[in-house]
Amino acid sequence: MKRILLSLLIIASLLTAFACQPPGGGDKVRIGVFMSLTGSTANFGISSVNGIKMAADEVNKAGGINGKQIDLLVQDDRSDASEAATIVTKFVTQDQVHGILGEVASSRSIAAAPIAQNAKIPMLTPSSTNPEVTRKGDFIFRSCFIDPVQGAAIAQFAAKSLGAKRAAIMVDRKNDYSTGLEKVIKEVFTRLGGQIVATQSFQEGDQDFNAQLTSLKGSNPEVIFVPGYYNDVGLIAKQARDKGIMVPLIGGDGWDSAQLYAIGGSALNGSYFTNHYSPYDTDPKVQKFVNDYKALYNTVPDALAATAYDAANIMFDAIKRANSLDGTAIRNALAATKSFPGVTGDVTFNENRDAVKPIVMIEIKDGGTYAVRERVQVDGAAMPTLSTSASPSAAMSSSPSVASSPAAAASPAESPKTSMKASPKASPKASQ
Ligand code: PHE
Repeated sequence: MKRILLSLLIIASLLTAFACQPPGGGDKVRIGVFMSLTGSTANFGISSVNGIKMAADEVNKAGGINGKQIDLLVQDDRSDASEAATIVTKFVTQDQVHGILGEVASSRSIAAAPIAQNAKIPMLTPSSTNPEVTRKGDFIFRSCFIDPVQGAAIAQFAAKSLGAKRAAIMVDRKNDYSTGLEKVIKEVFTRLGGQIVATQSFQEGDQDFNAQLTSLKGSNPEVIFVPGYYNDVGLIAKQARDKGIMVPLIGGDGWDSAQLYAIGGSALNGSYFTNHYSPYDTDPKVQKFVNDYKALYNTVPDALAATAYDAANIMFDAIKRANSLDGTAIRNALAATKSFPGVTGDVTFNENRDAVKPIVMIEIKDGGTYAVRERVQVDGAAMPTLSTSASPSAAMSSSPSVASSPAAAASPAESPKTSMKASPKASPKASQ
């Protein structure tokens, strides 16, 4: 009887042990990846996952992290913030991941970050630029620049490089990224002597922008700021040109997708957007990445692919240095990241767990060719953080200081070295 009881006990404990074993086994480094693989910004997630997979494959082929293979758990949040939160909840409860990579869109990173924070599992976003993301807590990191800096670069470019005095703005009111940029752009453009002559709003997925554009046209702007995502921007550009509004449109990294030109076409010629990198950077590190990526996916990597590739490698490097799969150990190793040599620039996290990175201003040219018009130098770690939060430190440092690098600004935009084809036709391949 005793023996039977004992064996039952052993069986029961074995069963429990197996039941607790997270999917993928206990001997792997489990990284949860939440991205938009379908829905309104599917291209963001598809490119990002391509970059992350490439990074993980490279590390796994070279023997893994301290001998452990990386197991990527990739989940599609369908471009939806509440779905992003659901996925991250599952990552930290069921899957017991050791680290989390995601999202692209700030609204979705903001929705998911508190869950990772509560579970003390480090989360690193490759490309969410709204300041609020990393304010969710000390386990939340970003390996890209933030919107106060990007917005300052946009406003300064319009005021100084284009000499614009009158600007209009089209904002997506429900999108944290868009409203965050709106605030900074308005503040900096006005400070530089410009005037915001009209503000109009839209919602992601809108198809008809005629009413807003008619109103903007009446205010006679010299430039129109459009801090939005590629789908909407493409349509806005088209409808603006159809109305005879020929002034440049200026936006941020949210424009970056091969889909932008596929939708907007030549209506986008002569417009500008800030971005994280250029695939035509002659740095050998960038060229190696571009060539390897092209060999794998048969398309030129956009900024999402590059930032995600970097973020994945930064996470892997931190786990290696932590030499542990404990969330707090990985978090501390991430925080200690110094001058990590990424494709999109070197990454050192500042005290807010944000990266200080270079910004490029891209000009869209005939046929969807991109040229680096200017390299915008951001002034050190003293990044401006006016924006959505009412934190005292944010209120204090409300003077974005951005300076264009004179050498780069003087170089001709047409330089063949800095030109690229947006190649919209290549985009569907990215989804394979
Ligand atoms: N920065 C955007 C956001 O925070 C996302 C984005 C990054 C889009 C890079 C395109 C390229 O919402």
